[in-house]
Amino acid sequence: MSIQSEHHQDEEKLAAAKAAVALVNDHDVVGLGTGSTATFAIQELAARVKNGLQIKGVASSVKTATLAISLGIEMLELGTVSHIDISIDGADEFTEDLTLIKGGGGALFREKIVASLSKNSIIITDASKKVTKLGAFKVPVEVVPIAYQYVVTQIEKLNGLTKLRLNGAETYLTDNHNYIVDVDFGLINEPGKLSVDLNQIDGVFAHGLFVNLTAQIIMAKEGSLIKFTKPK
Ligand code: A5P
Repeated sequence: MSIQSEHHQDEEKLAAAKAAVALVNDHDVVGLGTGSTATFAIQELAARVKNGLQIKGVASSVKTATLAISLGIEMLELGTVSHIDISIDGADEFTEDLTLIKGGGGALFREKIVASLSKNSIIITDASKKVTKLGAFKVPVEVVPIAYQYVVTQIEKLNGLTKLRLNGAETYLTDNHNYIVDVDFGLINEPGKLSVDLNQIDGVFAHGLFVNLTAQIIMAKEGSLIKFTKPK
């Protein structure tokens, strides 16, 4: 990607982040996503906190928790929280019906818990993330290491091509000490069915298909904001 288009994308990410952070109210418990787009939101939220907004954050990754604390946001432990008022996160791909692929940054499991706990789960994106069918971005699947070979065999039965995620020469490890396989299913016709099929494999800790977990997507595109919401 050229520096110019990266800059353009960052402008869109920031615009979407500002719009989402404007929806946060005093005393909210706020779910904080992971990734470059979510980082813009965390920085915007921290600026509002400096100006007096009183909220508590819940992080979807160790990285996000570290960032939020460094910016002065008071944090709650995810495992102690039963209710999140609003959450703000990015996505790797989405379709207009609010179905997502997430987990490019490896935080899919905690992101899913945050989204599931959230009354108002908001996804913020630049225009590059919108697709008509999911699947060009490979679906991250978090796997319990001892079940790795078994899970790979089961995913192959679903016609997925698996690739173990690496971190340099080492196997990538999530915050939960699991592996990630990035799976090419081709374009995905039935994300809901695939989500159920993946959930049924013993050893799959979580997968990056987010179905029925999103209340609103705010996408910034060339200076304007486009919102996608759940049909009533
Ligand atoms: C993290 O695990 C992911 O789900 C991110 O939310 C997703 O990869 C989007 O990241 P960017 O905002 O960096 O594109």
